[in-house]
Amino acid sequence: MNAPTMQGLNLNAPSYVKNARLLAWVADMAALCKPDTIYWCDGSKEEYDRLCQQLVDAGTFKKLNPAKRPGSFLAWSDPSDVARVEDRTYICSAAKEDAGPTNNWMAPAEMRTTLQPLFDGCMKGRTMYVVPFSMGPLGSHIAHIGVELTDSAYVAVNQRLMTRMGKAVYDVLGVEGEFVPCMHTVGAPLAAGEKDTTSWPCNPKVKYIVHYPETREIWSYGSGYGGNALLGKKCLALRIASTMGRDQGWLAEHMLILGVTNPAGKKYHVAAAFPSACGKTNFSMLVPPEAGFAGWKVTTIGDDIAWIKPNADGKMLAINPEAGYFGVAPGTNMHTNPNCMKSLDKDVIFTNVALTDDGDVWWEGMEKDHGGQLPGHLIDWQGKDWTPQIAKETGAKAAHPNSRFTVAAGNNPALDAQWDDANGVAIDAFIFGGRRSTTVPLVTEARTWTEGVYMAATMGSETTAAAFGAQGVVRRDPFAMLPFCGYNMSDYFQHWLNMEGKIAATGKAVPKVFCVNWFRKDEAGKFVWPGYGDNMRVLKWMIDRIEGQAPGQETMFGVAPQYTEINWTGLDFSAQKFDAVTSIDNAAWAEEFKLHDAHFEQLAYHLPQALLDTKAALEKRLAA
Ligand code: OXD
Ligand code: MN
Repeated sequence: MNAPTMQGLNLNAPSYVKNARLLAWVADMAALCKPDTIYWCDGSKEEYDRLCQQLVDAGTFKKLNPAKRPGSFLAWSDPSDVARVEDRTYICSAAKEDAGPTNNWMAPAEMRTTLQPLFDGCMKGRTMYVVPFSMGPLGSHIAHIGVELTDSAYVAVNQRLMTRMGKAVYDVLGVEGEFVPCMHTVGAPLAAGEKDTTSWPCNPKVKYIVHYPETREIWSYGSGYGGNALLGKKCLALRIASTMGRDQGWLAEHMLILGVTNPAGKKYHVAAAFPSACGKTNFSMLVPPEAGFAGWKVTTIGDDIAWIKPNADGKMLAINPEAGYFGVAPGTNMHTNPNCMKSLDKDVIFTNVALTDDGDVWWEGMEKDHGGQLPGHLIDWQGKDWTPQIAKETGAKAAHPNSRFTVAAGNNPALDAQWDDANGVAIDAFIFGGRRSTTVPLVTEARTWTEGVYMAATMGSETTAAAFGAQGVVRRDPFAMLPFCGYNMSDYFQHWLNMEGKIAATGKAVPKVFCVNWFRKDEAGKFVWPGYGDNMRVLKWMIDRIEGQAPGQETMFGVAPQYTEINWTGLDFSAQKFDAVTSIDNAAWAEEFKLHDAHFEQLAYHLPQALLDTKAALEKRLAA
């Protein structure tokens, strides 16, 4: 153990922690936050069990019925702390222009002055957990290390499922290795002798999720929920990593990564970006339809984030920086995502779902696995009685719409054999998709890389419960990165455009780019495309395109499938329905382009001319 370093508080660092910068930082942060004790997480199972029990004792966790859901727990958060807080999220780059028009910005010095009094003494009465983690396979040349200091044991145990967390990280870090410092507090200090009066301490009034890209620091105050608190995820793996990628020539993306193997055993790798709560987890665990797809297999590498580095051979190598899934529970069932349901059989942390009378969990959508039968009684996510009658009368949801499960990737029966490969997998295609009731067709292939970047840059999507704010409103969500890009969005577009030249310099071609929309609705407001496992039909068409086996047809927007190019075996989907999900409505597109204008006006600073040229070319096609 290291010697005490500050008034009465022992740093308690284990002897295997040798990184001088880390030791100094922990000492400084302890002096600032004034926790009662410091605990260095080793990532062991024994430690996980102990901290979970501690959370049970504190009332934060309910242990679920071991006969139904072994090794699993349920937490209910404070009702004020249920989603990412985008309006409280800041990119504090030295220059405002570098944060760009889509991020909240404050000058770093001003933000530091704002945060200083908030962090001063913020951990009084609590333990500071030191949580070392690797984003990506330990020691991978694509991976990076973070260390989170947090006063939340809930965060520490979630990080063990979501990241490669523990002692082995220190071997990679060594004496001089680099790490991203991630400072987190729930912002609820306790006075001497005071005990928590709530099982979810947080600060209901003051929240800050702050990133300093130049110094690669994260400071999060006031929330214990999801991306606000599990700082490896959105804060490090997207906002900070996107700026690292800009500087170092790689990509940090809000993308799932899947492997798809054809009956001949040939495997392809696809990375796909969708906004939050639009089905990335479902797509990454897709089960191909039984009829017509014998021998096809989809395997999961990641469900939310991809780090992609071009190599000297012109391959775009991707890893999943995470090691678990923090997925949206409502809507998940054996039809929408059987592999996910199987992943949730044991060793899961659930947050804000409902509790059944026999000590199991429930969320909206699970009734589909029980012939539409709702449970007679539940305790909802706010601890109140819930019955189908109450739901009918008040519309009360038993589970919060953004309720989540946290589960280690190892639970997933469809886990790809290469998911932990330090070298990553070579991407064959990129997919971009938003949630759009109208206008955007089921699938279109970009004719060029630049056209693909245009499609991704102008992507729109109807908002979901993953973030605070109005839902169902169409907002532009370029590359599904609107809440996650750590720098000026137009510079990010240019960074993507530059990839083509980088790959071309090796003599190779860039991967194909596709735009999809699973969410078109008919006049009655019903989804037309069945989605879920049937998305395999679209995925197969993409692979046929890669192999030159589907001629497609030119549209204004790109290359689309002809009806006969999709494998329809086992699905009754008429040519009329196909037309309903693929047709291009000229008037709607004329309106859409006006929205692209407004979007580009907002992003005018450093907006690549190539995107304006692409828009002009598309409009010309529309007019023709
Ligand atoms: C997530 C999100 O939690 O995108 O993955 O909100
Ligand atoms: Mn996400």
